[in-house]
Amino acid sequence: MIDTHAHIQKSEYEDYDKVVLDAINQGVEKIICVGFDIASSIEAVEVANKYESVYAVIGIHPSEVENVDENYIETLKNLAKNKKVVAIGEIGFDYHFEPYNKELQKKIFVEQIKCAHSLNLPICIHSRDATKDLLDTLNENKEYLTNGGVLHCFGESVETFNIIKKYNFKISIGGVLTYKNARNVQNAILNIPLEYIMLETDSPWLTPEPYRGKCKNEPKHVKYVLEKLAEIKNLPIKEVEEITTKNAYELFKFKD
Ligand code: NI
Repeated sequence: MIDTHAHIQKSEYEDYDKVVLDAINQGVEKIICVGFDIASSIEAVEVANKYESVYAVIGIHPSEVENVDENYIETLKNLAKNKKVVAIGEIGFDYHFEPYNKELQKKIFVEQIKCAHSLNLPICIHSRDATKDLLDTLNENKEYLTNGGVLHCFGESVETFNIIKKYNFKISIGGVLTYKNARNVQNAILNIPLEYIMLETDSPWLTPEPYRGKCKNEPKHVKYVLEKLAEIKNLPIKEVEEITTKNAYELFKFKD
């Protein structure tokens, strides 16, 4: 199993060593530690440098765009010299919590799309309540999407998936898939080919059932997402594990 999206930086887990080792002991082959601002991106690279099985994604989350300085792209480019950096993210739009600045979110998103392109890296997209602006922005910048990407914590329709797959995008799904009230996502997943789906936890958030509401999420819980996905697809767990792992290798091209 590969947890393609987790925030296991030391600012999230005092003892992230235990979090990493518990995941490895439970059969997690790789964990991708995702940044959401400069500090957490630096921390993601630190965890990745410490553990062979951990990789880093670096970038500015749409909810953090007010806090960037003018040199942030330079900083990201310098950090990306590290071979464990496998994508730029999580980047995109978040219109869930007011106040938000749509223009600034778009500006920072587009700058990072171009940054990823110049580095030959895929992008990891966060999008909440912003489907139209996401699709418009991707379409306007499609020439920069040559390295593909992932729409993480997928909560969109099959129609939206059919548009983003043209850009060589995959999706990743986490604990939400296991929730009773997640019929829409479950139905969408039923109609999206497994070749496009990767597993994630989004730790420390979105703990899957049967632990929802009981504890902080950790990459070791990715197996509950795998099990649910296999159930929805009516396929053996082993097969779903192999295909989702292969999908992650295809997109992130792990070097070490
Ligand atoms: Ni995240």
